[in-house]
Amino acid sequence: MRRVLLTGGAGFIGSHLADLLVERGRRVAVLDDLSAGSEANLARSRHGVDLEIGSVLDAGRVLALVGAAERVIHLAAPVGVERVCANPAVTREVIVRGSQNVLAAARRSGVPAVMVSSSEVYGFSPPAPVREVDVPAEIAGGAPRLSYACAKLVADRDARRAAAAGQPVLTVRPFNVVGPRQGSSGGAVLPRFVERALLGQPLEVHGDGLQQRTFIDARDLARILADLAEKDAWPVDAVNAGGVEELSVAALARLVVALLRSASVVHHVAPPAARGGIEVRRRVPDLARLRDLACLPPLRPIGAAIAAVAAEKAACAAAQA
Ligand SMILES: NC(=O)c1ccc[n+]([C@@H]2O[C@H](COP(=O)([O-])OP(=O)(O)OC[C@H]3O[C@@H](n4cnc5c(N)ncnc54)[C@H](O)[C@@H]3O)[C@@H](O)[C@H]2O)c1
Repeated sequence: MRRVLLTGGAGFIGSHLADLLVERGRRVAVLDDLSAGSEANLARSRHGVDLEIGSVLDAGRVLALVGAAERVIHLAAPVGVERVCANPAVTREVIVRGSQNVLAAARRSGVPAVMVSSSEVYGFSPPAPVREVDVPAEIAGGAPRLSYACAKLVADRDARRAAAAGQPVLTVRPFNVVGPRQGSSGGAVLPRFVERALLGQPLEVHGDGLQQRTFIDARDLARILADLAEKDAWPVDAVNAGGVEELSVAALARLVVALLRSASVVHHVAPPAARGGIEVRRRVPDLARLRDLACLPPLRPIGAAIAAVAAEKAACAAAQA
């Protein structure tokens, strides 16, 4: 695998993957419309990355770029509750049609494709830990917030159908990713907590805060995605990728305050209306398949992500002062 195409590669997860692939001596092409990502995210690897500014909805451009690559890793999507709710129709279109464009281009070019799905495809009351086979046939409901989960489920199913038809396609389902370069504007929890803790402002936990999650550092997820993409063949159609340490959101807030020695207090507030009253109580991946594929490296503890996010925010504040 010498030349890799990353759609959405200027974003949070994609840019860590670009850094790692360049470190491994790969040439990386990134297709990103910069709606959420940025050139600054690729600053570390800019000499090894060709950034193409454009959309995955441009089927011709996708075909040309996939045809010039040995692997494609598809990450482009609108992400984050706030961004998704602001435009559910665009969310559906980009996720479903963008993914179809990548799958069609990969089929025509004979290029293996890693398709990045989401733990949200398991719906809102999944078994815990949830296995790949627990994916539902559909997610019921029409709330704007569901547009992301529903579209991801359609794209996930399209990718598994392609794999069943013999196309080399692997679907990866990440669970709650954290780390530097994650923006707080989309509604992600860790950057929001860290920003407030650094300012000594109250950390707002939605509801009782007892929602259980595992968190994986984007730098570890990048390694998992790169290792999976390097394989010659995939014996499964889909695989979970997430952290192993289970933590409640309230416990995460307390940990941020403690590790950053902040004077902030933790407040419980009503969840924002945009969340549509939908909250998964316990979302935890079964990682047996990832282990069987020998792609589960030792993972960074959550404290490493908290420290890295805090260092990034402090450096940013110092640069602006
Ligand atoms: N962050 C998480 O916790 C998480 C969890 C599960 C799955 N995922 C998935 O991982 C992938 C990457 O997410 P992320 O957290 O890095 O988000 P991100 O917003 O940082 O990255 C997504 C990138 O896609 C780009 N993009 C959006 N629409 C596009 C379009 N039409 N054409 C080209 N590029 C476009 C954005 O500019 C951005 O750079 C997404 O598919 C997301 O669904 C993320």
